[in-house]
This record gives sequence, C-alpha cells and structure tokens, in this order.
Amino acid sequence: MAEPLVVDGEYLKEVEKARRDLRALISSKNCAPIMLRLAWHDAGTYDVNTKTGGPNGSIRNEHELGHGANSGLKIAISLCVKSKHPKITYADLYQLAGVVAVEVTGGPTIDFVPGRKDSLESPEEGRLPDAKQGVSHLKDIFYRMGLSDKDIVALSGGHTLGKAHPDRSGFDGPWTSEPLKFDNSYFVELLKGESEGLLKLPTDIALLDDPAFRGYVELYAKDEDAFFKDYAESHKKLSELGFSPV
Ligand code: HEM
Repeated sequence: MAEPLVVDGEYLKEVEKARRDLRALISSKNCAPIMLRLAWHDAGTYDVNTKTGGPNGSIRNEHELGHGANSGLKIAISLCVKSKHPKITYADLYQLAGVVAVEVTGGPTIDFVPGRKDSLESPEEGRLPDAKQGVSHLKDIFYRMGLSDKDIVALSGGHTLGKAHPDRSGFDGPWTSEPLKFDNSYFVELLKGESEGLLKLPTDIALLDDPAFRGYVELYAKDEDAFFKDYAESHKKLSELGFSPV
C-alpha cells in the first residue's frame, strides 16, 4: 500500500538538505556509479500496462534486492542513510541520489520533482535488462517501461560511469578510461570498437546493430551537448515512471 505523502514547504526543505548531503557523500566516497545504478534499478521495473514497479523504493525489500540484477546494490542503499532523512520517501531519496550522481561527476543538471510514494510491493524478477541479450530484448524491456529508442541509447550512456564487477554480474571492467567522469566517452569508445581494458556488454554492442539506435550513438559521440540534453530528458522520464506530481 502506498503511504500518504504531502510535499509541503518542510518536505522541500528536507529535499534540499538531502541534496546537499548526497553531494558531499557522493563526492567524498566516489560512489556516483553505484548510486546511479540504484536509481535506475528502482525505476526500471516499471510496467506501463499494469502500472506496477517503477521508482517507488521497493528495491529496498530484501526480496527484490536479492534479484540477480541487483547484486551489489545493498551497498548503495546503506550509503543513502535513510535515517538521516526521515521525512523523505525512499523513492525520492534514491532518485535524488541518481540525479546528484550525474551532476557531481560533471553531467547535465536533471530536473528533480519530489513526491514519489513508497511501496512495499516488489515486482517479479526479470523486469530489468539482461546484458547478454540484443536489440529485440532491449526494445521489449524499455518499451514495457513506456520508453523510446532515443531513451534507450541516451540512458545507456549512463555506462560512462562506473564498472562491472565479476562477483556481481560476471562482467569485468569500466566502459571508459575515466569512469568517475560523466561525459560522452561511452559513445566514442563504442564506435571505436575493442579497446584494451574497456568493457562492452552485448547490450552495449546492440546499440550499433539497429539503425535507429546507431543514429543516436553517432550523434552523441560527436556532439556532447546533444547527449547531455537528451540524457537529462530521458533520465527525468525514467525517474518519473508512473509518477504524476501533485
Ligand atoms: C553497471 C547492465 C542500462 C547505469 C552495469 C552492469 C551491468 C549492467 C551488467 C555491471 C554491474 C556490476 O557488475 O557491478 C545494463 C544493461 C542495461 C543497462 C543490460 C540495458 C541498457 C543502464 C542504465 C543506466 C545504467 C539505463 C543508468 C542510466 C549503470 C552504472 C553502472 C552499471 C552507473 C556501474 C555501477 C558500478 O560501478 O558499481 N550495468 N545496464 N545502466 N550500469 Fe547498467
């Protein structure tokens, strides 16, 4: 059951305080990548047809956290220190952490609207993408969220941050040579092909296989401003799936 939530002046003040705390925490702990992954995995379970899943904080449930795709995210949840922000919902806190992670690593400013309700209902396992698959799987998963081809490519640019860990996903290594800097290098590397020490998941390579995807990859590799603009829009959409601000 969703809890009642009133976004009043006091709530907004708490959001600004949480934003400052998250900025300091994410910069000092270099944990932007895992915070962004937390926000994305809470939101990315959304199903536009049944209106279930989405950015509702349900990822904090042991059961959902135990889904294979969420391996390692317990760390991000503890870093959010919800007890320091009792008034703010988990759902808002995780999405705010994602927005701040992009901002403090040099990415675009993403508009953040608070007011998400928390849910304790976790969706069934299998709603997040499987990195071993290709174009049709990516489209199935993101269209189910109500997102577009452009959103798929822009959001995949989130892999400009962070790296894969063998003990979490079985994959290994960063996508770019500066994994704590949010820029368009993910797309530059993708077009370059194999680079020693850098990772490309099958779902990353799939972005080159589909003509609609590939057009965006080429655009974002040559025009960082275009990437930042589209990324900020797509990230906002992802962070607000199933949420209509009051
Ligand atoms: C990491 C898959 C989309 C942000 C990872 C990892 C995998 C993966 C396998 C490695 C996890 C680990 O071993 O620690 C996918 C697939 C996607 C996708 C199949 C489908 C398109 C996204 C999106 C975002 C994102 C949309 C954000 C907008 C991240 C970040 C990391 C990551 C920041 C690094 C985490 C860290 O360094 O701890 N992803 N991802 N991913 N993903 Fe994705």
